[in-house]
Parts: sequence; C-alpha cells; structure tokens
Amino acid sequence: MGLPEGFRWGVATAAYQIEGAATEDGRGPSIWDTFSATPGRTRDGRTGEVACDHYHRWPEDVDLMAGLGIDTYRFSLSWTRVRPTGGGAANPKGLDFYDRLVDALLDRGIAPAATLYHWDLPQPLEDEGGWLNRDTAFRFAEFAYLAAERLADRVELWMTLNEPVVTTAYGYGFGVYAPGRALLLDAMPTAHNQLLAHGAAVTALRSRGVRTIGIANHYSPARPADPDSAADRAAAGAFDIFMNRLYTEPLLTGRYPDLSALGGEKLDIRDEDLAIIASPIDFLGVNYYQPTGVTAPAEGNPLPFDLAELSGHPVTGMGWPIVPDAFLELLRSLKERYGDRLPPLYITENGCSFPDEPGPDGAVDDASRIAYLDAHIAAMRTAVDEGVDVRGYYTWSLLDNFEWSEGYGPRFGLVHVDYATQQRTPKKSYAWYRDLIAASHG
Ligand code: BGC
Repeated sequence: MGLPEGFRWGVATAAYQIEGAATEDGRGPSIWDTFSATPGRTRDGRTGEVACDHYHRWPEDVDLMAGLGIDTYRFSLSWTRVRPTGGGAANPKGLDFYDRLVDALLDRGIAPAATLYHWDLPQPLEDEGGWLNRDTAFRFAEFAYLAAERLADRVELWMTLNEPVVTTAYGYGFGVYAPGRALLLDAMPTAHNQLLAHGAAVTALRSRGVRTIGIANHYSPARPADPDSAADRAAAGAFDIFMNRLYTEPLLTGRYPDLSALGGEKLDIRDEDLAIIASPIDFLGVNYYQPTGVTAPAEGNPLPFDLAELSGHPVTGMGWPIVPDAFLELLRSLKERYGDRLPPLYITENGCSFPDEPGPDGAVDDASRIAYLDAHIAAMRTAVDEGVDVRGYYTWSLLDNFEWSEGYGPRFGLVHVDYATQQRTPKKSYAWYRDLIAASHG
C-alpha cells in the first residue's frame, strides 16, 4: 500500500533547546532560564543561554532543512519572546523573529508547524503557581491568540502543548525538569490545568481562523517487568493511564480515565471544563522514543507503580531501549482504543541520541541513528498498511541541542553541532534521511 498521498516528512526542534539569545530583543525569563541557572540542576550547570544560537543562525539552519528536502518543520514559539512576562502586551520583536523564519520556510517550500508550548513557561507565571494555577490556562490561550494573530495566515499546522505528561511528571512530580518541584501526586492539578489550556487555546486559534490544530503527546507502551505477576500487570495498567491515556482520553472522549490510584480527587474540574478540553482537534501528535518497564510499587511509594529496566534490547546513548515493535504496538493501540474518534496522526517526534563526534576525516558516521530511524519508520509503515491514518513524520531533531537537564551531553541531531564554534556538520543520517525523503517523493 505505502504511505498516503501527500504524506509529509519533517524535522522537529524546540525554542529553548536551540535558540539561545536568552535576553535579546525583549525576551523575558522562562522557568528553564531559572532552573538551568540554579546550581546542580543540569549536567555541568549548562543552560540554553546560547544553545545552537539559532536565533542568529536560522538562515543557515533553514538551508540545512532545504537540503534535506523536508516538507514541513516543527518548531516551537518561545512564550517569553512573544509575551515577555506571560501576560500583557505582545513583544513585536519577538513575533518578528518567527515571522521571518516562517517566510523563509515558505520560500523554500517547507510548511511551518508551530508548537505553542515546549516547556518554557514564563517565570512570572510560575511565581504565581505555574501550571498548578488554573489561570495559567487562560494566559496561555491569550498567548495562542497573539501568536495566531501574527502567523495564522502562513502557519498551517499548530500544536498547543508538547508532552504535558512530562511537565506533570518531571517538572512538578519529581522535580528533575523546570520548575523543579517534587510534589509527587500533588502535581496532578497540572494535568487538568494543562488540558484546560489546550482546550482554551484551540478555541483561541479557531477564532483567528486556524484550521489544523493538534497537540504533541508523549506515549510509552508499558511493559510489566514480570508479565506473570498480577501486581506488575496492575502497575503497568496504572502507568498506562498516567502516561498514555490521561492527556488523550479527555481530548477525544470528553472524559478522564479512572484516576483513583493517581490522585484524581486533586483535580479542580469545573462545569464546562471537559467540554472545552474536548474541543475537536484535527490531528493528534505522537512523540515516541521507547517503551517503559513497570513494576509494582515498593513499600512506601505513594505512586501506583515503579519503573524497571527493560533488559534484552539494544539501547541508545542515553540507555533507552530500542524497540520499534513497541512503536507499532502504540500506533495500533491508539486506533483500537479510540476508533472513529481518533483524528489523523502525525508522528511529531521520534529519534535517538548517540555520542556522535566527527571522525579523522571530519565525517560523523552515525550508523546507529540510521538503524533506529529505519526500523521505526518501517514500524510506522506497517501501521499505515494496517489502516492507521498517519499523515506525517518528524524526526527529533534537526540539530544536536540542549537536552534539558542532560545539558549538551546527548546528541539527537541529524546535524552535529560543535558548541564552541557553532559549526554545523551534517551526519551520515542527514544524507540517509534526505535520500529516504527523495525516494518517497518519487
Ligand atoms: C522532548 C524533547 C526532548 C526529547 C529527547 C522529548 O520528550 O519533547 O524536547 O529533547 O524528548 O529527550
């Protein structure tokens, strides 16, 4: 059968991970500026202050994209460039940056795909409770409106939030990502407030004429550590609700899954909220990297699961198991779970890190990345052959970049970045992806 007519190939990035220029042209501080500047929070104390200096080098980066022959580029807007304090008036210079980028992409035949929130909450909003504060949802919808006011005439695809589950778990639950709060199940209100933000932003975008709206969710199939253990299977079920269903089911069905083991009573759900959250969307973004091993919680763990290592698989540079079958399983499960309610899918992120460095000849031979991408794209093709409606695929990432609390250690790019000189060197996977796209276009 093959991929559908018009299938789109792309690459993805995020503002804080590549832009740098942290204080330029009126950009305000976000929680990642604060968090990464706090000693001990990121590997070697690294921050996104300079990152890939994409704010200045974007023409070169657009050239690299054009060289790949991609159809679409997924990037995120820095909320604090557009609205430096989170509320209040827009910052025209911040919007100008995205305006220029969007025009340059269109000139090269690349469809812009904008994510409104990739984890860089304005610090002043965090000071008022951040995602624990319901009002943040409405500040976000206003930001969505301002961004669309400027860009909706040229940006076709819009995503509200990137991986809200990571914000809840890592940002507010365990405190390993900004804003660094370790509240365990008391982080659960951030789930509802983010879902509400998503729904309110959908309404705001629609009011500015946006037609193609989605969300980029993180999914990770749960594997019980011991499939014969009922306790491990129950734990995997609880993990599955948290990771794979919490941010999808309310959107597509207007109902929460059973959150009784996950502190569901902590959610402040008001009258119209679920209707807002379930505002129709046009696609679902799927970010997939790896499955997760799950075991029954140890004594004293307030969560209904513990994470367990998944053995028996090759791993990436970050030790993440490489299991393309789990990607296929995930795509099948979305269709099985939601049936006709499932909108078309875009794979909004998929990729891997390896410690890639140039060899003596200057080339970066990342055969392991090629193998990872090849196997995952094959899994996606199988899902499409089985009837899953996938319209596009974005690999993470165009460039090596700031990998959050891991600093500049892991390298996820098709293009190597020497952070001392900002020199970009396309890796072998860049040529491989370019050829794959060319062959697919015929
Ligand atoms: C995030 C990216 C991140 C990637 C690799 C995804 O969860 O959206 O920002 O760099 O995973 O960790």
